[in-house]
Amino acid sequence: MSKRQIGVIPGDGIGPEITAATIAILESVGFEADWVYLEGGLGAVEKGLPAMPEETIARIKEIGIALKGPTTTPVGKGHKSANVILRQALDLFANVRPAKTMPGLEGHFSDLNIDLIIVRENTEDLYAGIEYQAHPDVAQAIKVITRPGCQRLVDYAFDMAQKQGRKRVTAVHKANIMKLTDGMFLEEFYKAAARYPDLKADDIIVDNCCMQLVTRPDEFDVFVTENLYGDIVSDLCAGLVGGLGLAPSANIGKTCAVFEAVHGSAPDIAGKGIANPSALLFSALMMLRHLGENEKADRIQQSVLRVCNDGQCLTIDLGGKASTEEFKVEVIRNAQA
Ligand SMILES: NC(=O)c1ccc[n+]([C@@H]2O[C@H](COP(=O)([O-])OP(=O)(O)OC[C@H]3O[C@@H](n4cnc5c(N)ncnc54)[C@H](O)[C@@H]3O)[C@@H](O)[C@H]2O)c1
Repeated sequence: MSKRQIGVIPGDGIGPEITAATIAILESVGFEADWVYLEGGLGAVEKGLPAMPEETIARIKEIGIALKGPTTTPVGKGHKSANVILRQALDLFANVRPAKTMPGLEGHFSDLNIDLIIVRENTEDLYAGIEYQAHPDVAQAIKVITRPGCQRLVDYAFDMAQKQGRKRVTAVHKANIMKLTDGMFLEEFYKAAARYPDLKADDIIVDNCCMQLVTRPDEFDVFVTENLYGDIVSDLCAGLVGGLGLAPSANIGKTCAVFEAVHGSAPDIAGKGIANPSALLFSALMMLRHLGENEKADRIQQSVLRVCNDGQCLTIDLGGKASTEEFKVEVIRNAQA
């Protein structure tokens, strides 16, 4: 029988290093795939291709699933974000970002049991990319929120929460100021909530949400929110549980799913062999679960937890001295023990 195909965009900066480590760890527990390597990001632009080439988009549409390394986007100039193009082209409307306490890791909140999931809208809002220079001294951007976009997102969030045995779904918004856009999002949230009477539904204004998160993060469960708020709040949540080096995500659409770390290409440490591959690895475990490979995902997860708990082979971002390679070897050794 031929192996299942999985698209792989290694990406830029630390992307190729953490992608190679992740795939080696998946294969070490017997997960087999025909990895289809695809271009994307600054590397593609430097080869004279678009940041997200048509060929890459078409192959992922065919295959239906991909693992993606981080891609570099120039700030304030240059090419449009490869991520934004990919998410819009594949209509990956829900970005799911779990943030969970890792036992054994020291942090401001290591005594708490934080277990959050942020479901972020992924194709609309200010990321619709409608920006223009209205006047030499005035630049404007349009926030796009559609009712169908809100409906499918909140439905996904409640459905996911129910399937995962969660208790509470909280909408994060700024409807006190953005009365039409965020007001519509909130309206659709409570309509969906009525279809899930077993789940507690409430809402919180985004600024208050940030304050509550840094004081009592263990009291929240599932968040559902628009694109920009979700981008910022999910990085905050990553910081609560050990930082970006541990934060995974899944971009989910009706026909395709792309799994990637929350963090970027980390140009400051690229090529040094010291990046933590855990965030991409945890994203790959979300991919394995999406494919029904729960046993292999659990084995790797337990192995990473043991390595972190043991504390002898942590990467620099977690306060250790291990290289990406040493961490990978230790996770593989533990997964096979
Ligand atoms: N999904 C994506 O492809 C994605 C997401 C965010 C940012 N980006 C892009 O990445 C580039 C760099 O962005 P940035 O510097 O703001 O954010 P970043 O996430 O790349 O880095 C922020 C900090 O976290 C550290 N860090 C990140 N990942 C790490 C890891 N795995 N191990 C150890 N340390 C890690 C970095 O060294 C840096 O100090 C930008 O071009 C940005 O557009 C891409």
